[in-house]
Order: sequence, then structure tokens, then C-alpha cells
Amino acid sequence: MTAKWSPDSWRAHPIRQVPAYPDPARLAAMEAKLRTYPPLVFAGEARRLKAALAQVADGRAFVLQGGDCAESFNDFTANIIRDTFRVLLQMAVVLTFGASVPVVKMGRMAGQFAKPRSSDTETQDGQTLPSYRGDIINGPDFTPEDRVPDPARMETGYFQSAGTLNLLRAFATGGYSDLHEVHRWNLDFAARSPLAARYQDLAARIDETLAFMAACGMTSASIPQIRETDFYTSHEALLLPYEQALTRVDSTSGDWYACSAHFLWIGDRTRQPDGAHVEFLRGVKNPLGLKVGPTTQADDLLRLIDTLNPANEPGRLTLISRMGAEKVETLLPPLLRAVRRAGHRVVWLCDPMHGNTISTANKVKTRDFDAILQEVRRFFDVHAAEGSWAGGVHVEMTGREVTECVGGARRLSEADLGTRYETFCDPRLNAEQSLELAFLLAEELKARREPAAAPAVAAQ
Ligand code: PEP
Ligand code: CO
Repeated sequence: MTAKWSPDSWRAHPIRQVPAYPDPARLAAMEAKLRTYPPLVFAGEARRLKAALAQVADGRAFVLQGGDCAESFNDFTANIIRDTFRVLLQMAVVLTFGASVPVVKMGRMAGQFAKPRSSDTETQDGQTLPSYRGDIINGPDFTPEDRVPDPARMETGYFQSAGTLNLLRAFATGGYSDLHEVHRWNLDFAARSPLAARYQDLAARIDETLAFMAACGMTSASIPQIRETDFYTSHEALLLPYEQALTRVDSTSGDWYACSAHFLWIGDRTRQPDGAHVEFLRGVKNPLGLKVGPTTQADDLLRLIDTLNPANEPGRLTLISRMGAEKVETLLPPLLRAVRRAGHRVVWLCDPMHGNTISTANKVKTRDFDAILQEVRRFFDVHAAEGSWAGGVHVEMTGREVTECVGGARRLSEADLGTRYETFCDPRLNAEQSLELAFLLAEELKARREPAAAPAVAAQ
């Protein structure tokens, strides 16, 4: 028997990763205030995304989900939002060509502010303070004032999400996303890359395709799909008081929707089947994500799928595998089989970031581009071997030229990490590395769709 759900039923469940707010009355007052604010997204949009994800579950589309590990209140500028959005669009065009299917685009944007931490506290030079948990909870500076969880930050998070979302909507439909423009940026990238020769071929083939389409009368003036795009927002649903306060009943369907973003996911640290995060998300109708990590057991996974998607609705649940390049080949196949045997219709994505985080000798967190690419390749291999659809990728990236992940065509080294290491949490692929990943993946997807040409029949 499943107990009755309500927006606050999670409060009776064990919960992890809770900030210690010093003043519960101020927290309650902020929740009450947020409950009166307009929703950030509409239920109809979340349903549209769910329908697009159902196509992915059926092997007819692909997902690109990407953005910051943690958005920062200080990085709330048009240029930063634009650059990340632009690189995601550029990646999506390349992947659409490579996979030959539509690409569903989701940003880890407009609300990705709360972070789970492995420790509640951090110690520096003998001083111990609460860990930084993301700008919507406390501040990143290592000072007692900054590290106190402050409910007022939820309101800033709400307004920044609204501002970011507003700009994203304008970019998606206001002419900025024209396919020809996006392709021109890609040509520019391909020409400048140290691997120019390698990328030029794919770029030239896309060029030819677009010219052919234009010759047939398919231009941005005639076809809205060429000048506009659908772009969705997503974040980890970690800070439940905030999520609950933005949960609304949809007047059309009478169902509850989390209205802080289109798509919400459950992180690897808060996926306990009886836990508060699972309880909250099972009751909202948005499309959901669930991280699947090296410690995920098959029976827990099946139980979670039953709880989160009892009607086995395709598009409702996306499983985001984050095993690490070295483990994905051994850990993923048994889970894939268990899910398939149970008849569950889910989307599988590869997050090649969170299983590949390493520390340099100077204790700087980084990731190696080669390990990231390796995990993606192996994820696709595993799916191919199991006869299931590899539904896409989930990456931590930015449109800026930061130096946070090592490797890539410019061969960033550990010594380069100091140049522009700007992340507030995990290391992100920079603009070039993100595009490289898309080009290399597209190349592979294309090759997999076109089995090697049959040997020519010897002349008689
Ligand atoms: C994340 O996506 O930023 C994250 C914390 O991932 P995970 O829960 O998979 O560790
Ligand atoms: Co992260």
C-alpha cells in the first residue's frame, strides 16, 4: 500500500543533505512568501518535454542535458547565460546530424543552485565551518557569515531563475537560435580547433545538407523549426522546502507539478527508496531524472522505478548513469538487463562527469577529457551489446573558456588549471572541450549507423 502523497508528505521521511537553518521561523516565512509567487514554468511545458522524452525512450530521439555543476549568483549575466546556451545549441546541431534523430535540449540552468556535499563541514587551517551547499543555501567564502544557511537566498534563487529563464525563452524563439547561425558558429569552431582537419569533414557535410535544404525552399523564413528551438530547464531537486513552495496544481489536469523547472532529478546521494527526496518527486507529474551510480543495487533501482513511475509511462523517468569510465562496462549491463526484464520503459543517459572526478597533486579537483569520452563510448557500446537505446548525454559544461578539465585538443595540463579555474563546485568542460565531445560523439554515432562498407566484389 502506498501512502497518500501531498506536497509536504516528504517531511515525514528520513532526509539527507539538509542545511542547518538557524532560524526555523525565517525559513517558514520565506516558504510562505514563495508559495504566493508565480510558477517559473507551466505544466503544459513539462508535459511537452515528457512527450519528447517518450520519443527518446522509444529510440527515436536523443537528449543533450548540460550546464554548470552549480550556478552562481555572481555569474548572473546575459553573456554567461548566452555563451552556455549557444554551446549547447552548437552541440545539439552536431549531435542531430550524427545521430540522425531529434535532440531534446535541457540546460542545467535557471535553478541549478543547490549542491549535495560529501561532508557537512569543511576545515581550513584549523578552522571548521559548514560546507558550501550552493548559492541558494549559503555562500562560498570560507567565513562564518557566508557559510550560515540563509533562507533569503531562496528568493534570490527564484528571481535569478526567472531572469535566466526569460532570457533562455527569448533566445530559443526570438531569432538567436537560427540553425544557419548555429552552424556558422560551428564552422568557426571547426576552423580554429587544433583538430580542424578532423572536424572539418563533419562540418562540411552539415553545410552541404543545409545548402540542399535551402535550395528546396526550407529556410528560416519558411520553416519555424529552422529559426526556433525548444529548450528546457532542469536541476537537482535537492532543497525540498524551496521545491515544495513552488509546487502548484495545474488547472488543466488537476495534477501537481513542480514549477521551479521542467525536469527535476534525484542525485546519487539522496536516492534512498524511503527517503524524503523520492517521496517528494513521486507525487509531481514532471518528467524526472534519477542518478544511477556505482553503489546502485538492482533491487533498489527496480523499487525506485516502481515508486517514481508506477504507470510505466515512457518519458516520465530518465536514468542517468554516472559510473566512471573504468566501471561502466561491468556495472551498467546488469542494471540494464534488470530494468529491461522488468519491462520498464525508461530513458538512459550517460553522465560521464561524476564518476571521473580526480584530484591533482595540489588537491585541485579536475576531470580528464579522455576519461569523459571513454565513459561515453563505453556507455554506447554497452547499450549496443544489450540491444537497448543509448538515449544521450548529461554533461557539466560552460560556454566560457575556463581551464577546469584537463586534456582535449588543446591538451590542457594540470599546470594550466590555475589560469581560469572558476567553478563553484565540480570542474566543467569549457566551450571548446564541449564542442569536441559533440563532434567526436557525432562522428561515432554516424559510423555506428553506417556499418563499414561491404567489401567490393572482386572483378572477374
Ligand atoms: C551533479 O549532477 O552535480 C551531482 C552532484 O551528481 P551526482 O548526484 O550524480 O553525484
Ligand atoms: Co557536479
